[in-house]
Amino acid sequence: MNINWSQLGFHYTETDTIVRSAFHGRWQNGTLVGEWEEPYATTDKFIHLHLSATCLQYGQEAFEGLKAFRGVDGKVRIFRWQDNARRMQQSALGLKMAAPPIDLFGKAIRLALQTNLDYLPPYETGATLYFRPLLIGTTPRLGVGPGVDFELAIIPSPIGPYYPGKFHCTSFIINRHVDRAAPLGTGQYKVGGNYAASFRATEAAHLQGFDCLFTDSKTHRYIDECSAANFIGIKVSKAESQKSKVESKKKVIEYITPRSSAILPSITNDSLMTLAREKGYRVTRRHIRLEELTDMNEAAACGTACVISPIDKVIDPDKGITYTISEQPGPILTDLYQSLQDIQYGRAKDRHGWCELIY
Ligand SMILES: Cc1ncc(COP(=O)(O)O)c(C=O)c1O
Repeated sequence: MNINWSQLGFHYTETDTIVRSAFHGRWQNGTLVGEWEEPYATTDKFIHLHLSATCLQYGQEAFEGLKAFRGVDGKVRIFRWQDNARRMQQSALGLKMAAPPIDLFGKAIRLALQTNLDYLPPYETGATLYFRPLLIGTTPRLGVGPGVDFELAIIPSPIGPYYPGKFHCTSFIINRHVDRAAPLGTGQYKVGGNYAASFRATEAAHLQGFDCLFTDSKTHRYIDECSAANFIGIKVSKAESQKSKVESKKKVIEYITPRSSAILPSITNDSLMTLAREKGYRVTRRHIRLEELTDMNEAAACGTACVISPIDKVIDPDKGITYTISEQPGPILTDLYQSLQDIQYGRAKDRHGWCELIY
């Protein structure tokens, strides 16, 4: 095995094993009952799947994404895998699939790590071992409806640092003509259908050199999902003195993120909100009008892959407006980015117990 860690991007690199576990069940009084098999590691990356399987016919599919980090102390940390397990359970229930138990999910992730340790990049590289848990419906069905058989697979792959050079900004373009997910649809779940539905918009944006900013599907007035990531806006204002209502020199830093039933509850965003509160920022989850971009001092997309991807500008082609935010990554988001990475790489104390230390 000879991997040039610095050359890795966000591409699939084959490892020694993937981990699998199958579920076979039946419906009993409206409840799916059955058993998961013990997760096992296999070198076989292919499955023998009926072409009528519910994952292929009706989109019964969900996935996750999480990372293991080699820390500054040489130890291995898996970041918040329990939250990915819980989110996969939500996605499974959202699509009427069997939800893998948290313990089974954890066992499968640990086994995927143990059997692919050689693919965990060294600390200095900034690269990580990414896990892609996948859940698919395998029951052959012709009539429209959910299946009773499922397969969980954990697919590991080393991935490169998101910022091999400098921490930098990305530009976004608004698309009101393609909805990623309906307000009461599946946007809150991590299911393949949402991503296929977004490709028309994301690929059109990429062709123009941008990432895609989705607006809410009902009114197209509010910021929704930010490509395949959550949106964060930072507003800095002067505090008013409580008594005199006069502006004081103290600054109020507001961390704003969209409230929407159609966005994925990002584990990175949740971690950053916790850190932001600890730093004394006002953290708000609410509807964000597009025009509010004018008042943002900093903005970013956030997710497992990038942690934080700062935004320099947002183009609104329908209205002919360009919202210029900040040419360079701003100090508040840069600090939050570093604070979270410090925990993930073991450079700072993990006060929230987010990392499971493996070795
Ligand atoms: C649509 C979407 N939103 C948000 C996120 C960020 O979620 P997380 O921070 O858990 O990776 C992701 C990535 O998983 C995503 O695909």
